[in-house]
Amino acid sequence: NLVYVLNGPNLNLLGTREPEIYGSDTLDDIAGMLEDRAQELGLEIEMRQTNHEGMLVDWMHEAQAEGARAIIINPAAYTHTSIALLDAAKSIRTPVVEVHLSDPMTRESFRHTSYIGMAAAKSITGQGARGYVLALEAVANGEI
Ligand code: DQA
Repeated sequence: NLVYVLNGPNLNLLGTREPEIYGSDTLDDIAGMLEDRAQELGLEIEMRQTNHEGMLVDWMHEAQAEGARAIIINPAAYTHTSIALLDAAKSIRTPVVEVHLSDPMTRESFRHTSYIGMAAAKSITGQGARGYVLALEAVANGEI
């Protein structure tokens, strides 16, 4: 009942980073929220953040090797650039749920393409920190 929750570049600065776009919750706040909900849902979460693209690839492989039920991932800016992350999602059987705090489709045009979204079982955008909880619930209720 393990779920990996992976976070990409600059998300370590959540809380102070453009709060008008991303909200005032820190990544630790989100981790706490997810821990509480995971416990209620009988899931275990492995929550991580990195600023390095290849690290996200390695962690996606690891999630499968560890038998994770799903990967919840906010790849941040790598969403819009990384074919490596798309290929990683296609290279594993572990389902991937894409989460974004903001709704990239309503922002600059360079955010309108999501590579990982092409291989994601579900994408949740524009719901702020709550999006992560919704993703966890989707895993728990068997939707993913
Ligand atoms: C983001 C949206 C991306 O476009 C941006 O590069 C981020 C955060 C979000 O959660 O809204 O870093 O993934």
